[in-house]
Amino acid sequence: MEIPELNVVTGAFGYTGKYITQRLLSMGERVKTLTGRSDLKNPFGSQVTTSPFNFDKLSLLTESLRGTTTLYNTYWVRFSYRGATFDRAVENSKKLIKAAESAGVRRIVHISITNASEESPFPYFRGKAIVEKAIIHSKLSYAIVRPTVIFGAEGVLINNIAWLLRRFPIFAVFGPGKYRIQPVFVEDLAEIAVSMGHREDNVVTDAVGPEIYTFDEFVRLIAQKIRSKAKIIHVKPGLALVLARLIGYMVKDVVITKDEINGLMSNLLVSASRSTAKTHFSEWLDVNAGKVGARYISGLERRYD
Ligand SMILES: NC(=O)c1ccc[n+]([C@@H]2O[C@H](COP(=O)([O-])OP(=O)(O)OC[C@H]3O[C@@H](n4cnc5c(N)ncnc54)[C@H](OP(=O)(O)O)[C@@H]3O)[C@@H](O)[C@H]2O)c1
Repeated sequence: MEIPELNVVTGAFGYTGKYITQRLLSMGERVKTLTGRSDLKNPFGSQVTTSPFNFDKLSLLTESLRGTTTLYNTYWVRFSYRGATFDRAVENSKKLIKAAESAGVRRIVHISITNASEESPFPYFRGKAIVEKAIIHSKLSYAIVRPTVIFGAEGVLINNIAWLLRRFPIFAVFGPGKYRIQPVFVEDLAEIAVSMGHREDNVVTDAVGPEIYTFDEFVRLIAQKIRSKAKIIHVKPGLALVLARLIGYMVKDVVITKDEINGLMSNLLVSASRSTAKTHFSEWLDVNAGKVGARYISGLERRYD
C-alpha cells in the first residue's frame, strides 16, 4: 500500500493550523506539526506527531522537516510580547524556509496577510512582506495565501467585540468607523490553503470573504444579531486605545494594539481583488449568535497559561 505524503503544519493545535490539519487528515493525508505547545494539547491524538520549533538549532529543525512534501506555515506573532517580537518572527520564519530547502521540502503554503508591504509603517505587515520575499526567492515551490481578519469558533477579535457588546452599556468605535473589513471564514481559509498545497505553480492570492462592511456596520451587525443593547459611540482612536487597555487590565489580556487599530483604520483588512471564499459572515453569525462573545477569549491566556 502506498504511504500518503507527509505534510508539516506549523501550529496544528492553534487556530488556522487546526483547520488546515483537520482538512488534510480528512483527505487521508499524513500530518506532523511543529509547535511550541506541549503534546498534551494535541486534539488529534496519534494522528498528528509533533516536534518543537527548534529555531535555535537549525540541524534539528531541518531534520524535523525531512520527508515532508508540503509545509503549511501559520507561524507568526500577533504583537510583540516578552521575547516574541516581529523581528524575531521574521528571523525564525527565514530559518524555517532555509531548513525546508535543506530538508528537500517540495512546496510551502504560507499564510500571510492582505496588503503586506515592505513599506508598511506597521511591523506586522512589513514583517509579513519580508517573509513573503524570502519565500519567493527560495528554492521552494510556493503559495502565499493572504487572509484578512479570520472568523470562526476560536477567533479572538470578533468574539471579543461580541463579549464587549454583551458586557458593557457602551461600545466605543475608534474614529468614524468608515474604514472597511472583509472577514474570511477559517474553514474557507483552510480549504484554500490545502487546494493551494496540491498545486504546482507559484501563486500569491488573497483569501477574502464575500462581504465587505464598514467597521461601524460590522459592530452594529454583531450587536443586532446577539441582541446587544449597548450604545455604539464614536471616539478618538487614542481614547479607544486607553479604554481597551483598561479592559485589558481587567481581563489580563491585550484586547487590541495601537497598530491593529491603525491597520484597520488604514483599510488593510480589505482586498482589492475578488472574493475567494464563500462563507458569509452574516450567515455564520446567524448560526453562532448564541455562542459568540458568551465568554472572553484571552489570547495571552491561550498562549501563556
Ligand atoms: N487570526 C487572524 O484573524 C489572522 C488574520 C490575518 C492573518 N493571519 C495569519 O494567519 C496565521 C495564523 O494565525 P492564527 O491566528 O491561526 O495563529 P495561531 O494559531 O495563534 O498561531 C499560529 C502559529 O504561530 C505560533 N505563535 C503564535 N504566537 C506566538 C508567540 N507569541 N510566540 C511564539 N509562537 C507563536 C503558534 O505557536 P504554537 O504552535 O506554539 O501555538 C502557531 O504555531 C498567522 O500567520 C497570522 O499572521 C491571522
